[in-house]
Amino acid sequence: MDKSMYAIEVENLTKIYGKGETAVTALRDANFKVRPGELVAILGPSGSGKTTLLTCIGLINEPTHGRVVIDGTAVADDGWQSGIDLKKMRREKLGFIFQAHNLIPFLTVQENVMVALEINGLTRAEAKNRSVELLNALNLGHRVNNYPSALSGGESQRVAIARALANRPSVILADEPTAALDTENGKNVMDLLKKLAVENHSAIMVVTHDHRMVENFDRILQVSDGRIAGETNNM
Ligand SMILES: Nc1ncnc2c1ncn2[C@@H]1O[C@H](COP(=O)(O)OP(=O)(O)O)[C@@H](O)[C@H]1O
Ligand SMILES: [Mg+2]
Repeated sequence: MDKSMYAIEVENLTKIYGKGETAVTALRDANFKVRPGELVAILGPSGSGKTTLLTCIGLINEPTHGRVVIDGTAVADDGWQSGIDLKKMRREKLGFIFQAHNLIPFLTVQENVMVALEINGLTRAEAKNRSVELLNALNLGHRVNNYPSALSGGESQRVAIARALANRPSVILADEPTAALDTENGKNVMDLLKKLAVENHSAIMVVTHDHRMVENFDRILQVSDGRIAGETNNM
């Protein structure tokens, strides 16, 4: 089958929350495309629609109008595409990194990462190796056998990141992934994202407030009042 040359295609994407007088248009007519291996930053003030954009692409927030195409598959066209298996798409194509991490409290750090892998068909041995590799890359090698309750906020965030990246998703969406981290761990996370873009050809979109991070990205989309107000190319 023909593989699309884009990992993400967004056409006239609009999201309106609520109806009638209380309706809020959080996103208007967004248009852009992201290629495999591209690392894209989304910058913009609070309330400008960054999270809405990410969750509409990530199949967790139904777009009101417009099209979203992931890896050549149309997932939304004025609402969800009929017949689309959203759960399957999310599991197989997407990796999310959000600020609020929800680790499974009765599983160890390593098991939390392994679950994501085993759901997608890796054997236990493969899942073990891959989880250790990821956790080491995120400076969590010493935490594999701990339970989430023993971790600091920054450590929990990094476990959630390891879990989101476990399946080598073609699209990685991150909402301020370094906000809760110190400088060193923030840098580790950015380095890992860059490495994934290159080695796995993942398309990666990262919401950030941190202008110091901008040099890490191939492209920067500026969001303002629900619109894509500008684009900068670093390549
Ligand atoms: N679930 C919701 N219901 C109603 N309005 C919402 C909802 N989520 C976000 N909004 C509104 O949509 C706009 C964009 O929000 P958001 O996408 O969270 O912006 P950002 O992530 O840039 O801070 C804001 O005006 C916000 O209040
Ligand atoms: Mg937000």
